[in-house]
Amino acid sequence: MKLAYILALGLSLGTFTMAYQVHNISVGKGALDYSPNSVIASVGDYVQFTFLTGTHAVAQASYDLPCTPYSDSTEGAGNNGIYSGLISPYANYSPKYTIRINSTDPIWFYCPEAYHCQSGMVGVINPGKGQSLSDFTILAAQQSSNRAPAVVSGNTTIGATSDVPTSPSNTSVTSVTSVASTSTPVASAASSIETSATSSSAAAASSSVSAGNVNVAGSALLITALAAGLHLLA
Ligand SMILES: *[C@@H]1O[C@H](CO)[C@@H](O)[C@H](O)[C@H]1NC(C)=O
Ligand SMILES: *[C@@H]1O[C@H](CO)[C@@H](O)[C@H](O)[C@H]1NC(C)=O
Ligand SMILES: *[C@@H]1O[C@H](CO)[C@@H](O)[C@H](O)[C@H]1NC(C)=O
Ligand SMILES: *[C@@H]1O[C@H](CO)[C@@H](O)[C@H](O)[C@H]1NC(C)=O
Repeated sequence: MKLAYILALGLSLGTFTMAYQVHNISVGKGALDYSPNSVIASVGDYVQFTFLTGTHAVAQASYDLPCTPYSDSTEGAGNNGIYSGLISPYANYSPKYTIRINSTDPIWFYCPEAYHCQSGMVGVINPGKGQSLSDFTILAAQQSSNRAPAVVSGNTTIGATSDVPTSPSNTSVTSVTSVASTSTPVASAASSIETSATSSSAAAASSSVSAGNVNVAGSALLITALAAGLHLLA
């Protein structure tokens, strides 16, 4: 019994750390473009840029100052935004730049190569209220220069342990742990697996079902043994 619920608990904790989406954006798929150029992502999700053609980059700007490094904007105030560095794919290899979404604050971005930004190679993750990509694109076209950030930053590995979400995940882990210390831990842990139905949690759910089967088989054996004992006594 204990082993089964430790198993179920472990599997359910596993599903919490898996609960993110990867949003893919192709870079240079058409020509000077990000595709899609607008993405809505939740905290803990990843946005992965795949460089398909040309020489391009992903650099963060503030909404009111396209084609300029985020650190140079009033909003950025010296903080580096995301920057992939200039990237050129080569034969059969499409480099990837992946960021983890740590807040739902807007991330406006542009390609700092040549005049790509002015030509409309811009995009956004989580546009803010009242902000529009078409306004950002128009403002970009009006900029006299297109500058790249000095520091490459933000690239990470999907699911990297150093990226484990802080408070939301801690909350989930804490609540599941406290559930486990009540009298019906297996049922609670198992139901939390079922509520987050993804392909991996489906696997987890079926594993916990077989852990349950072990218990049933165990009790059946016990009943058989008892019956055998009673039979001997009789
Ligand atoms: C994103 O790309 C990865 C490979 O890099 C792929 O496994 C995944 O299915 C893609 N996701 C979507 C939503 O297209
Ligand atoms: C980002 O990090 C991954 C994993 O370390 C690496 O494979 C990839 O080449 C990096 N991308 C860039 C643009 O540095
Ligand atoms: C999100 O936080 C992680 C961990 O602190 C950091 O490595 C990563 O660069 C951050 N992502 C962005 C887009 O700033
Ligand atoms: C919360 O998560 C952070 C980041 O993974 C970790 O360093 C910290 O120890 C966790 N806190 C608790 C109470 O689990």
